[in-house]
Amino acid sequence: MKIVLLGAPGAGKGTVATRLRDEMSVPHISTGEIFREAINNKTELGNKVSEILARGELVPDSLTIALVKERTQNSDCDKGYILDGFPRTMVQAEEWEKIDSVDKVISLDVSVDEVKRRLMGRRVCPKCKATYHVEFQPPKINNTCNLCSTSLEIRPDDREDAIEKRLEVYSSQTSVLLDFYSKINKLITIPADRKPEEVYQSVVSIISK
Ligand code: AP5
Repeated sequence: MKIVLLGAPGAGKGTVATRLRDEMSVPHISTGEIFREAINNKTELGNKVSEILARGELVPDSLTIALVKERTQNSDCDKGYILDGFPRTMVQAEEWEKIDSVDKVISLDVSVDEVKRRLMGRRVCPKCKATYHVEFQPPKINNTCNLCSTSLEIRPDDREDAIEKRLEVYSSQTSVLLDFYSKINKLITIPADRKPEEVYQSVVSIISK
């Protein structure tokens, strides 16, 4: 099954997708993670997109679509995948429907105040990419990854000005996808202002239907 997880920055898309990947063996394709990896590895792609991400703006559609197309051609995607952070513009959504039409789009609906709280408190492991929250999902040992004991970091785009920009971009360019997918009967919206476990179980029950 081909699933898209849609939602504002900080809505919890990565948290849900990582668990689906681990527990249901579904490939998790996060465009944000692909870009961050390229930036860390100082590749040509990384150099191209690093300032765009730091500002909280969007990477050009053609580049992003080509990357996802290439990634989904891997054999691990033969039975489906979870897209997290893509599509994110009307161009991406319309184009992707032509390239590899998805089955379901699950929108995680969270209030703006809550996403701000989540982003301001997020901590990530630079090594294994595990995600924590200082209040809602704290690591067992202060600022240390439970899985690999690496010191946790704050994502460069979780600064207050970049968060504001990302929310503005979501509202002007991504939220229109709710209408697009609703009109083609693919959208399922779930309230995601709830505990991670409850949100995860709702997503699993939608996927299993
Ligand atoms: P991307 O990495 O996709 O960032 P995003 O969409 O802004 O989403 P986030 O990763 O910030 O949040 P999330 O929803 O995954 O939340 P998380 O699970 O971490 O993109 C980054 C950048 O890359 C973009 O700004 C853009 O520049 C570029 N880019 C990416 N895709 C692109 C595209 N398609 N086109 C163009 N450019 C693109 O959770 C957040 C926090 O909340 C965590 O601390 C977590 O522990 C906590 N949390 C999660 N769930 C809950 C819960 N239920 N209750 C309490 N806390 C929770």
